[in-house]
Amino acid sequence: MNKISIITGAVILLAGGYYLGKSGQQPATVIKVDSQPKAAFTSTGVEEMAGVQGATVRSLVTPTSGELIVVKDGESIQDAVVAASPGAVIKVMPGTYKETVYIDKDNITLSGVIEQGKYPILEGEGLRNDAVLYSGNGVTVENLYITHYKGNGIMGQAGNNFIIRNNFIVDTGVYGIFPQLGKNGIVSHNIVSGIEDAAIYVGMSDHVDVVFNQVFDSVAGIEIENSRHSLVESNFVYNNTGGILAFVTPGLPIKTCGDVLIRNNFIVDNNHENFAIPGSLVSNIPAGTGVLVMACDDVVVEGNIITGNNSVGITLTDFSLAGNAANDPDSEPNPNRPRILNNIMQDNGNDPAPAVRAVLAAMLETTGPDIVDTVGMDDGCILNPERYRTIGLDKYTECEFSTTANVASYTLPEPVPARSMEDVDKGKLVYYGVCAGCHAYGSRMVGPPTQIIQALYMDNPEGIAEYAANPVKKREDYPDMPPQSHLDDETRMAAARYMLKVTN
Ligand code: HEC
Repeated sequence: MNKISIITGAVILLAGGYYLGKSGQQPATVIKVDSQPKAAFTSTGVEEMAGVQGATVRSLVTPTSGELIVVKDGESIQDAVVAASPGAVIKVMPGTYKETVYIDKDNITLSGVIEQGKYPILEGEGLRNDAVLYSGNGVTVENLYITHYKGNGIMGQAGNNFIIRNNFIVDTGVYGIFPQLGKNGIVSHNIVSGIEDAAIYVGMSDHVDVVFNQVFDSVAGIEIENSRHSLVESNFVYNNTGGILAFVTPGLPIKTCGDVLIRNNFIVDNNHENFAIPGSLVSNIPAGTGVLVMACDDVVVEGNIITGNNSVGITLTDFSLAGNAANDPDSEPNPNRPRILNNIMQDNGNDPAPAVRAVLAAMLETTGPDIVDTVGMDDGCILNPERYRTIGLDKYTECEFSTTANVASYTLPEPVPARSMEDVDKGKLVYYGVCAGCHAYGSRMVGPPTQIIQALYMDNPEGIAEYAANPVKKREDYPDMPPQSHLDDETRMAAARYMLKVTN
């Protein structure tokens, strides 16, 4: 491993020497070096922190080919991606980049170079929707400072084996980091703040670790939604409306959420006023929510420090917070088999949000509890229940195990195969990968329900494709739809056709 890092270092120096001699606007510099194919650019921070913490976090490695492209201030990152072959490492030098970067190739490493504390800045200027969108497999995105985008900071659309780490994402739209429909990935050491929905949002994905991130000043800190096998560990989550959420959003194509381990996080003072887009699911989260488990099964909460959350420390509930999305017959609403191991919980519930206060008042309570189960599950367990103020946990038993120390990571020991493009209906992929981020079948998300759009555009996929390319304001009570003009005509048409035929 050392040998490989030495090679990497030399490459950077070489590249530095190359462009330092030039001035003005240069096209991205492509340098081929003889490093071994699949040379491993290993996780830096994860391993170091794993040592410090005494935890063992598996470090995923995305393959590289030895091709290196250096992008410097004044050049375009997207040009470099276009020039890159699969396996390329794209190094982005400090500077300001006003663009959206689409990565539709496999095994691309997009890596910012930080010099004297200066990051490469992706600047959305309040105009652009997304900073980085990837759909390739084996993609790494690291060391970027992303700000002022309207939609997503870093979004993955069905890419597997991904690494998103060491990024700053500041005041950027609806989702900060949003891998969707991905398998096997790590989101680590990012600092994300000022997000209208979820700072880190793992959507319809499997085997993702969210570790060592700092998330604050957002509506939802970390959201594990319709996903399975996720480890949320050692994150610092504060001053959001809700800290860590594991839930099922009804109406999405993947109906289940389960096997989520929320461990060793600081979940502190999540009392931010809810500033979500009205009507979105997270707009229903009461301020002062530490952990929220909604309809997600087999969630384990262990070793967290949960303090100063003014409504409730941990809430377990069904779709009562899902608003009008709740009537999806295919989603089972109960948070089955919750397990609450040892946590430190203090000073929660001191000033409940109005909705929570009303529920408490019915029980003649004025302060919120450390833990509430609104359903009253009878298959849950808790260790040392006497340590906490609880409501609705009467049927919980003592857990049969006391730690999850045997679980180091939920990522997989081997990379999962790339999805085969031949097998995938392009329209389906784009619909679920892009459109479904805002449009659910039967319920309102960011955009109107797909069912309504089907009624409006019955036999007219062209109309949908055209609208998606150039949306105009139609509804006062919805935000603007960002233009999907980054998709080519054929792709937009495929998505439009799929949108008309999807049935749930
Ligand atoms: C970032 C969120 C977002 C994404 C992604 C998105 N939409 Fe939308 N969409 C919206 C919003 C918000 C509206 C409502 C806009 C309005 O009524 O002013 C909307 C409305 C629409 C409409 C209704 C137009 C009408 O005549 O009423 C169509 C059709 C549509 N979107 C298609 C798509 C397709 C196809 C995709 C994927 C390629 C897509 N959208 C992706 C947010 C989004």
